[in-house]
Amino acid sequence: MVLDTITRPGLQGVIAAETRLSYIDGLAGVLIINGYALETIAPHAIFEEMVYLLWHDRLPTQQELADFQAQWAKLRTLPDVAIETLRQAATKKLDTMDALRMAAGLLSLNTNPDNAPDAALAMVAAFPTIVAAYWRLIQGQEPIAPSSSLSHAANYLYMLDGETPSDERVRALNTYLNTVIDHGFNASTFTARVIASTHSDMVAAIVGAIGALKGPIHGGAPGPALDMVFEIGQPQNAETVLRKKLDAGERLMGFGHRVYKVRDPRADVLNVAAERFFAQGEQLDLYKLVRHVEAKAVELLEEYKPGRNLQTNVEFYTALVLHGIGLDASMFTPTFAISRVGGWTAHAIEHLREGRLLRPLAHYTGDSGREWLPIKSR
Ligand code: ACO
Repeated sequence: MVLDTITRPGLQGVIAAETRLSYIDGLAGVLIINGYALETIAPHAIFEEMVYLLWHDRLPTQQELADFQAQWAKLRTLPDVAIETLRQAATKKLDTMDALRMAAGLLSLNTNPDNAPDAALAMVAAFPTIVAAYWRLIQGQEPIAPSSSLSHAANYLYMLDGETPSDERVRALNTYLNTVIDHGFNASTFTARVIASTHSDMVAAIVGAIGALKGPIHGGAPGPALDMVFEIGQPQNAETVLRKKLDAGERLMGFGHRVYKVRDPRADVLNVAAERFFAQGEQLDLYKLVRHVEAKAVELLEEYKPGRNLQTNVEFYTALVLHGIGLDASMFTPTFAISRVGGWTAHAIEHLREGRLLRPLAHYTGDSGREWLPIKSR
């Protein structure tokens, strides 16, 4: 049998499976989430509706949503050993993504490994509890027990500081969570699908995906993107600081994307959400600075990397929205995970239902014909 053995570094352009979950047109700047153009659904839905959509291929009715939320609220509490693990992680000041990965693995104690949809619900429901508990432990405070009467987004904010959040903050967080819930075969989703493709269990697939999301060129970019804006400080410094980074061969965080060659449509949705917090009041200057840095960065990237079409990606505005909601930069990537676990679980379920074992080839560049020498003769 003759195999097609074209090498595609980074699997660029390779279609590895079919999905009904999301569609990206990177040249037109279009993102469709299960049939809905992103901008038509993300600013309106609550996160629970989006998860229902991805798992059931349609939006829920009012009754279905109420039942779904009630079922979900019961799964917010963590096993004791998970809280104990977070306590230990906090004493070592581990990165929140590492703490999330460790505690998420312990959710096997709350799930039936043979029931992927149930395990998926347990994972999605518990992620905010893990992240919020860890945030408090690392500040030397006791975790706040989840509320069963608040929505997913509201409960997450409540568990961080014990206060019922304003509708405005909850709406912004829902828009953010909806915007990043799914995005084709990005690295973390692909990781979850590879694990699911071996018919392993849901918890294993999600723990692997957390590890992939943590990386600074995937989900780890928004913290450094905000740091860059604060480092610039004033619009007149933008060009000097950005040039210095580019001259040093650094990547500008929040810019460039494997698939989008125009502005990431998620950046547009998040920009609108960010404006609510920043376009008036004392934070207006920060908003103006961000817009200026964005324009200058895109201009300089075209100068330094002509023809690469390095445009603003979702992480640049993620930083602004989550900062506006009041989250610390260390919480940006974990909050991304709180959303993306909805997509990861949907992909794992889809792959278990209809996918094939994911098993690409590697192009061998090593030697051949080496001779075995006993250890004493080497
Ligand atoms: N700043 C400066 N140069 C860049 C940037 C950037 N943000 N992005 C890409 N480049 C350059 C690369 O150095 C490379 O140049 P070279 O060929 O002269 O060496 C060229 O553009 C192509 O880059 P690749 O890494 O091959 O592109 P790839 O498609 O693999 O990378 C990626 C996409 C990883 C997102 C990249 O653009 C990047 O590192 N961006 C910054 C990190 C970031 O914002 N990540 C978040 C992405 S969105 C998400 O994951 C949710």
